[in-house]
Amino acid sequence: MSENQLLEGVFEIVREHYRNRANRELPIRTWRTPEELAEILDVAVGSEGVGVDQMLNSINAYLSECVKTQHPHFLQPLWGGLSEAGLAGEIATVLSNTSIYTWEIAPAATIVEKEMIASLGVLTGWGQVDGTFTSGGSNSNMLALLLARDKVIPNAMKEGVDGTKLAVFVSAESHYSLLMSAHVLGIGMDGVIKVETDEMGRMKPAMLRTEIEKIKGSGRRPFCVVATAGTTVRGAFDSIDELADVCQDENLWLHVDAALGAPCLFSERFKHLMSGIERADSLTWDPHKLMGVPLTCSALLTPHLGALNNTCSYIKSAHYLFHEPGEEYDLGRKSLQCGRRVDALKLWIEWKSCGTSGWSKRVDEYVDLAIELEQLVNENPSLQLMTERMFTNVCLRHKGSPDGGDVNLFNEKLRQKMVRDGRFMVSIAKIGNDTVLRPVICNPAIDSQSLKSFIEEICKIGDQLIKGDDMGSRVQSH
Ligand SMILES: Cc1ncc(COP(=O)(O)O)c(C=O)c1O
Repeated sequence: MSENQLLEGVFEIVREHYRNRANRELPIRTWRTPEELAEILDVAVGSEGVGVDQMLNSINAYLSECVKTQHPHFLQPLWGGLSEAGLAGEIATVLSNTSIYTWEIAPAATIVEKEMIASLGVLTGWGQVDGTFTSGGSNSNMLALLLARDKVIPNAMKEGVDGTKLAVFVSAESHYSLLMSAHVLGIGMDGVIKVETDEMGRMKPAMLRTEIEKIKGSGRRPFCVVATAGTTVRGAFDSIDELADVCQDENLWLHVDAALGAPCLFSERFKHLMSGIERADSLTWDPHKLMGVPLTCSALLTPHLGALNNTCSYIKSAHYLFHEPGEEYDLGRKSLQCGRRVDALKLWIEWKSCGTSGWSKRVDEYVDLAIELEQLVNENPSLQLMTERMFTNVCLRHKGSPDGGDVNLFNEKLRQKMVRDGRFMVSIAKIGNDTVLRPVICNPAIDSQSLKSFIEEICKIGDQLIKGDDMGSRVQSH
């Protein structure tokens, strides 16, 4: 292999794929069987290495077969797109190939991460902030619950959970990572109390008080409330202020899972959605969601200086890693990870590129697009808006056949056909017993044209299903 031949080839392939990333004429994905895909990728590895051409073919095939998450019709998860600045930051991260645990080994990364924690923290109004980047919103939530648990059972790190049964109160529409956290932290899923939500998907503060009273009688000890700012399905924002009142009265830790919604803090128009955030004890913020920073990039922030170091103080046994006494500059001293990517770097480069005003503009534009989509749904007699929109999630469904039938199944089949046709990707979810389509505006490639085409596509497939009369069959898994 001549010097850099592989790298030069890869750069050429990357350029080509990046150029085509927002070409709406190309499919988002081509539906294949697992066997077909394995063959296309030439997936098997052998005892001998292969040549550069074969490696480049495999890389090209991989990129060609991936779902095009930067496509203007990609409306599926709570993230999407890839900016040039984000990609540049990611490339620099990979090239530096460092692990951000000590100042000694990652000095520049340390400065960058500290700056990003401080910059995000400014928006919380806490005055002082500590934090760390984690492997994603799920782990940020888990770390927050760990801080809260260590506050009520300070000896848990040394002695283990002492038999106290704990209870954490979450919205009935909160993310499943809170169940995972309860599992990992020894709280157990029965200790996650799901509090009823209102018609817009927000936790009912009065019900929270009722549930707390109920649980006290059951022998579990309340220790934490999790407010969600931007729920996964509806994009609903719990009233942080009202939940903070409850936490204050009951002396409970208030964590805000704003993995999706935190960027509203950049916007003069929408920061009111998180009013009361200055009263929270911790906050999950995923720049890899609405801010479009490449996956993964998530931060856990807290105003309690020293809490993270305290919870992670078992690292003092790692004599092979932490040599200097520098608590403040060895960021591994406040992380659950040992080896850790420098995820703050791509956020920093994006932030440099767009400035704080750029984030604010992006939030406003996304919400405006969501409002546009909401209007298109409301104007269309075949469609139904399934919940009032609060942010960038729009929950809708096709009303199905005028002759009646199972509307949930109709929408499942509609979505399946849409995704397999490869022109649009959107997720499906439940609100109560209703199946809804949940497009989210979290991708800078989405524009008004995407939304109009999306509505046309739903109606076209809906018509085909009504005419085709194949509603009796079940949705297939492959
Ligand atoms: C509200 C909320 N919190 C947390 C998460 C978990 O984030 P991650 O996928 O980064 O683990 C999600 C993911 O969609 C979410 O919607």
